[in-house]
Amino acid sequence: MEEPAASKPTVRKRAEEIKPFQCKHLIAVIENPTDVKNIGTVIRNVNALGVEKVYVVDPRRSLPDDWQDLRERKSVSKTSVSAVKWTFVKRFDSTDDCFDHLERKGFKSIVTSPHVKGKRCIFLHEGDFTEHSKLAVWFGSEALGISDRAVERSEMCVSIPMFGMIESLNLGTSSGIVLYEVAKQRREYQSRFRLRKRRGERKTPLPTVIMPNHQTS
Ligand SMILES: C[S@@+](CC[C@H](N)C(=O)[O-])C[C@H]1O[C@@H](n2cnc3c(N)ncnc32)[C@H](O)[C@@H]1O
Repeated sequence: MEEPAASKPTVRKRAEEIKPFQCKHLIAVIENPTDVKNIGTVIRNVNALGVEKVYVVDPRRSLPDDWQDLRERKSVSKTSVSAVKWTFVKRFDSTDDCFDHLERKGFKSIVTSPHVKGKRCIFLHEGDFTEHSKLAVWFGSEALGISDRAVERSEMCVSIPMFGMIESLNLGTSSGIVLYEVAKQRREYQSRFRLRKRRGERKTPLPTVIMPNHQTS
């Protein structure tokens, strides 16, 4: 017999429960992705890790302009395991369009790469990702990586240390690793401080985890 679909009150309850754990003003940007599976994986990671939004630089116009239309795109919905239903995704025609939009809204950007790029480059574990109140984290394309233009317009480049023979991690995988660290730091910050620059410290920090459901079998 088919399992009953999650009832609406259950979905609403979960939506309320996760709200305080969302990282405010944190956006993941994917630049020129070519594989829909990677787009789906990034959306899934963003949703699972409590990141606010996904922006996609999509000069080939492979995605629809409207989020509602994107939610109905089967390939994206399937590869994101429906996370696209719950995560806001916006597309841009070019890297500069996306930077212009982010900068107008007061966002600072950091890029990610397995290589040393730009003026400032750090390893993931060295970073303080709470420094900017509005932050966009950029991931490059599968074949070409992050563009020189994105490096030029960003604050710094972040690398996940690697110890193998291969040149890079997969786009979806690296987004999970980087966003986990960035979101964890920002959630901890939000739990302790109400305002920027470590002001408005709460007497009792808010919780930073939701206990997973206990499974009996
Ligand atoms: C498959 S990689 C791109 C490989 C490409 N040949 C290059 O030179 O960057 C796709 C994206 O995943 C991210 N990525 C992969 N490995 C990474 C690492 N070790 N550290 C940080 N980001 C990484 C970057 O955003 C990269 O642009």
